[in-house]
Amino acid sequence: MSATLIDGKAVAAKVCEEVRVEVAEWVAKTGVKPNLTVILVGEDPASQVYVRNKNRRCLELGMDSEMIRLAADTPQDEVAAVIDRLNADSRVHGILLQLPTPDHIDSDALIERISPDKDVDGLHPVSAGRLMLGLDGPKPCTPFGCIRLLLEYGIETRGKRAVVVGRSNIVGKPMALLLGRKGAGGDCTVTMAHSRTPDLAGTIRAADIVVAAIGRPEMITGDMIQPGATVLDVGINRVDDPTRERGYRLAGDVHFESAKDVAGAITPVPGGVGPMTIAMLMRNTLELYKKTVE
Ligand SMILES: NC(=O)c1ccc[n+]([C@@H]2O[C@H](COP(=O)([O-])OP(=O)(O)OC[C@H]3O[C@@H](n4cnc5c(N)ncnc54)[C@H](OP(=O)(O)O)[C@@H]3O)[C@@H](O)[C@H]2O)c1
Repeated sequence: MSATLIDGKAVAAKVCEEVRVEVAEWVAKTGVKPNLTVILVGEDPASQVYVRNKNRRCLELGMDSEMIRLAADTPQDEVAAVIDRLNADSRVHGILLQLPTPDHIDSDALIERISPDKDVDGLHPVSAGRLMLGLDGPKPCTPFGCIRLLLEYGIETRGKRAVVVGRSNIVGKPMALLLGRKGAGGDCTVTMAHSRTPDLAGTIRAADIVVAAIGRPEMITGDMIQPGATVLDVGINRVDDPTRERGYRLAGDVHFESAKDVAGAITPVPGGVGPMTIAMLMRNTLELYKKTVE
């Protein structure tokens, strides 16, 4: 392996420690704890694990956290009423609607219902607009975490060509905006690729920084990567693996085995981008709290 392994677990631990220290200082000063409240509609097993982890991490860092579990058939207006109640509750600083929601729920409408002041996921149209305009505000946690990884590893972004594969609201689009912003961790010339991009391999090969957010296991192979490029693999995919006790393994969108010998730096899956998402959620919660109690 010639690439530097980007250790997301270690950087996430560092971010969380920074948050823990700051939380302690602020709580000592104000007597008020930051509170993240997570709404989970339905029983999706992966979502249950994510929500539990978010709650646990909040408590570890000295923050309060509440989980509101609603049955899978909860009507839209009842979820909306919960959001209204949390918007009005001054003890709550961050509200997160766990995605995906059941099919009958219009999650976009519910995200829009969350007060932008409590939009801890950075997915509200106001937050998206602020990001586009280069204004301060909560940023979607996964792309925000990717930028932190680049900064922590001293990877130069200024003047570099970046390709983001994927154009979702949660990862691809904000990632492209962040890389294209002025300043540290930005100043890239960004291409946002997707399923209609012709010559995807050639597009990726032209990039100094590749962010894969596709949801297709191991689609980007080593021969598609420019020697020395930085590769951030956002993908988390379950691949059948009868040799594992649980019957599957986790794979990224990048074929790690072939990419690691070509890239200059690369994130593994698991242990790369994944741990950063929750760490940046903790950071976003603290920042929203600080704005309120200030
Ligand atoms: N690490 C984390 O914490 C974290 C957080 C969020 C997501 N994820 C993972 O990241 C991956 C992407 O998530 P997402 O929510 O952004 O997914 P998504 O909403 O399904 O978006 C996938 C994007 O990939 C593009 N795409 C699909 N097939 C393609 C192909 N053959 N060639 C080029 N582009 C293609 C799609 O293009 P079109 O727009 O043209 O359809 C779409 O823009 C998933 O594996 C997810 O589990 C990880």
